[in-house]
Amino acid sequence: MQKLVRCAIVPVAGLGTRLLPATKSQPKEMLPVARKPIVQYVAEELVANGIEQILFITGRGKTSIENHFDYDPELARLLQAANKQELVEQLHAVELNAKFFYTRQRMQRGLGDAVLCGENFAGEEPFVVALGDSIIGLNASSRAVSRMAELFVARRASCVLAVEEVPPEETAHYGIVEPAEPDGDVFRVANLVEKPPPARAPSNLAIAGRYIFSPLIFDMIRRVQPDARGEIQLTDAIQLMCEEGRRVLALKLPPGEKRYDIGNFPSYFETFVEFALADPDYGPGLRAALERMLVRMPPRS
Ligand code: G1P
Repeated sequence: MQKLVRCAIVPVAGLGTRLLPATKSQPKEMLPVARKPIVQYVAEELVANGIEQILFITGRGKTSIENHFDYDPELARLLQAANKQELVEQLHAVELNAKFFYTRQRMQRGLGDAVLCGENFAGEEPFVVALGDSIIGLNASSRAVSRMAELFVARRASCVLAVEEVPPEETAHYGIVEPAEPDGDVFRVANLVEKPPPARAPSNLAIAGRYIFSPLIFDMIRRVQPDARGEIQLTDAIQLMCEEGRRVLALKLPPGEKRYDIGNFPSYFETFVEFALADPDYGPGLRAALERMLVRMPPRS
């Protein structure tokens, strides 16, 4: 990655109401997917893509995210004293070569407002926004953020978005882009609309939880009017960039780097099973157990 993009903002302030009761007293970003909490995959992906500083935009009830990335000397001492070297190594595996920062979004005022909380952190540099409830690629193996950063620099963009195709009937769950150019894996975006019903969706290409922005986005966010629910939408701020003729580009995620969305139970369950099946130690045993279960529990008619 060009070292021009070194910082990332990870919004994790959402209430996770679609995952109640699992998220009543713990952040959805801390739910496990196979061996690790979701937010660990997000941070690993960012570090693997050259990010050196990560700011989490947190909220009430999210302190376990800070604890997760902090060193725990007592636990380390206990495991050492018990000679549990393997577990000590698991603890080290959490440590990442990046600096972590935390700030709170005081009120639930939408994703745009959450990103605005990172203005001082980003300063004059371009930065990544990575949603804390989306993993890109099996085991966070995606290099999409690096490719987005290269595009950002090479094409002098103001914003680069990762997008993915979604079933046309699901457009109301996502920000949807209208390409300005005929098909391709990289294209300029003409317009964006947040969560349109299928009849008003300009395409089925959804914003997939990874963005690169020039600091210009902060002024755009300040100019956005709150929506009907009082939320400042990041998508509306990017739309303002398009309207001002700024270059907004989209990169389609390749099939091998699909987005795992943990914001609802069906995709959380699927993601967990897929990651657990890919586990080198426990995957084969789980596969056998699932096969036995499927025979015992045929689909209900
Ligand atoms: C947010 C964004 C939306 C994007 C989605 C991806 O929505 O507002 O544009 O497509 O993330 O997950 P949320 O899922 O927070 O409702």
